[in-house]
Amino acid sequence: MKNIGKVMGLYPTPVVIVGVYVGNRVNWINIAHIGIIGLDKIMLSIAKNHFSNQGIEQYKSCSLNIIDRTEIEKADYVGIVSGEKIDKSQVFAHQITEELHVPIISSAKVAMECSLFDNYKTDHHDNFVLEVINTFVDENVLNDDGKIDYLKVDPLMFEMPNRKYLSVGEELGKCWSIGLNKEE
Ligand SMILES: Cc1cc2nc3c(=O)[nH]c(=O)nc-3n(C[C@H](O)[C@H](O)[C@H](O)COP(=O)(O)O)c2cc1C
Repeated sequence: MKNIGKVMGLYPTPVVIVGVYVGNRVNWINIAHIGIIGLDKIMLSIAKNHFSNQGIEQYKSCSLNIIDRTEIEKADYVGIVSGEKIDKSQVFAHQITEELHVPIISSAKVAMECSLFDNYKTDHHDNFVLEVINTFVDENVLNDDGKIDYLKVDPLMFEMPNRKYLSVGEELGKCWSIGLNKEE
């Protein structure tokens, strides 16, 4: 194995489009540095100089939207321009959730409305810890058991070293199951 130094290698990650009110305007931001904490919390690592952070702090809430490849250009766009200079509110058709009043993308395959639980600040980043309050799905991505089928979701994925979008590919086996076939 070759040591290539201090390179972040934890990819691919799903692209998450964060929806948030900043003041009285909706803003969207592309965030891929994310992590699951426990079973109901998600960490978003957002550079402190981004515009969206102000809204997450102000309203203590935001939405996380999983989109598919059909939204790739819009997703990339909201990851290039800042709401500080450009009104991104109409980039995605959206609706406002009843409980937390956050914008969710109408075409999202999965959208979670989340409340702010904590902010673990590091030198240049707000690392927002969010609690999932409600999850909305496109019913077409549910399987017969009523669970989200991620092959149907076809989430847009991201990797940083080569700055590329990827897809998830195919099912390889059942977790907590295929390991039982291991030969000694
Ligand atoms: C694919 C992709 C992934 C990104 N992931 C992150 C991220 O994890 N954290 C971050 O701070 N910025 C990330 N960005 C950059 C922000 O989306 C971008 O700076 C955005 O314009 C900030 O918008 P705002 O100022 O309106 O909040 C990403 C951009 C792209 C294109």
